[in-house]
Amino acid sequence: MESANDFKNKVVIVTGASSGIGHATALAFAKLGAIPVSVARREQRLQELTEQCQSFSPDASYIAADLGIQEEAENVVHKTVKRHGRVDILVNNAAIPMHKLIYRISATEAEDTMRINFLSCLWTTFAAIPYLLKQGGGTIVNVSSFATKVIPTHETLYAASKYAMNGFTKGLWTDLEGSGIHCVLLHPGPIATEIWDKLDEPDAYNGELYPPELVADEIIAAIRKKRFEVVVPRNNFKLVMARVMSLIAPALVRHGVAQMDPIKPESLEKARLSASSGKTMGELVD
Ligand SMILES: NC(=O)c1ccc[n+]([C@@H]2O[C@H](COP(=O)([O-])OP(=O)(O)OC[C@H]3O[C@@H](n4cnc5c(N)ncnc54)[C@H](OP(=O)(O)O)[C@@H]3O)[C@@H](O)[C@H]2O)c1
Repeated sequence: MESANDFKNKVVIVTGASSGIGHATALAFAKLGAIPVSVARREQRLQELTEQCQSFSPDASYIAADLGIQEEAENVVHKTVKRHGRVDILVNNAAIPMHKLIYRISATEAEDTMRINFLSCLWTTFAAIPYLLKQGGGTIVNVSSFATKVIPTHETLYAASKYAMNGFTKGLWTDLEGSGIHCVLLHPGPIATEIWDKLDEPDAYNGELYPPELVADEIIAAIRKKRFEVVVPRNNFKLVMARVMSLIAPALVRHGVAQMDPIKPESLEKARLSASSGKTMGELVD
């Protein structure tokens, strides 16, 4: 195991750092003497976070960017290397929620979700790999979701974007073999962040929410211990049971999940009527 000082002066890009898990992660790296480069769209928040980080790590900086745009996502990596001379760790954490009745989702919204939640991670990763190869290695952390273990209703597109991230990361485990680039796939369970306030429709989940600092700590531990896949909170009885049940009794889990937040019969009826009158996905239910 490596010591805490192994993060000293490491350049760490953290996307989605203007709130929640990314914010906690950038700060946690700064406290270890690493140099976080915080990325998101809300610049004021990034400025405030960077001032906080600079009291632990004077070279901490930020880049305001819309990661749903390929050029901006790639430029985050290029600007970081130009500014700090290298990149050691890339944490792909930015995402939007997509919690919506399937009949209300348009193809454009579906594409936006894939672009921000998955393609942004691919674009930053592809931009970073040549630098990491040149440097002899580094780490990429992809923040996925427990929603890829058990998919709640109304989360199809969100889960699809995270499943794409899972497949991409798992492929990199083998494709980057021997390169010195280690990839971590991290699945947060329910975490207390503003993502819950951004849902298009109310969520049925009313259980415990864990602090984002817990995820930041697990990201750091996973890098240190060269873990491949981590669920946070780790060894949580309910999450472990949910995973075990979805493996041994998938039909039961599907039924249980559908009961927790059911698709209302009246919504389905409206969707049928709208479909009969020629409406398309996204406009089937008001
Ligand atoms: N909280 C949970 O319960 C939970 C559970 C499972 C997985 N996760 C995953 O954990 C990660 C962090 O989520 P969180 O809970 O911390 O949510 P959050 O507080 O809503 O943070 C999301 C971050 O992503 C950024 N972002 C969104 N769209 C962006 C874009 N187009 N370009 C650049 N940045 C963008 C946001 O910043 P701006 O709006 O300023 O751009 C924000 O900083 C996400 O990948 C999420 O899917 C969260």
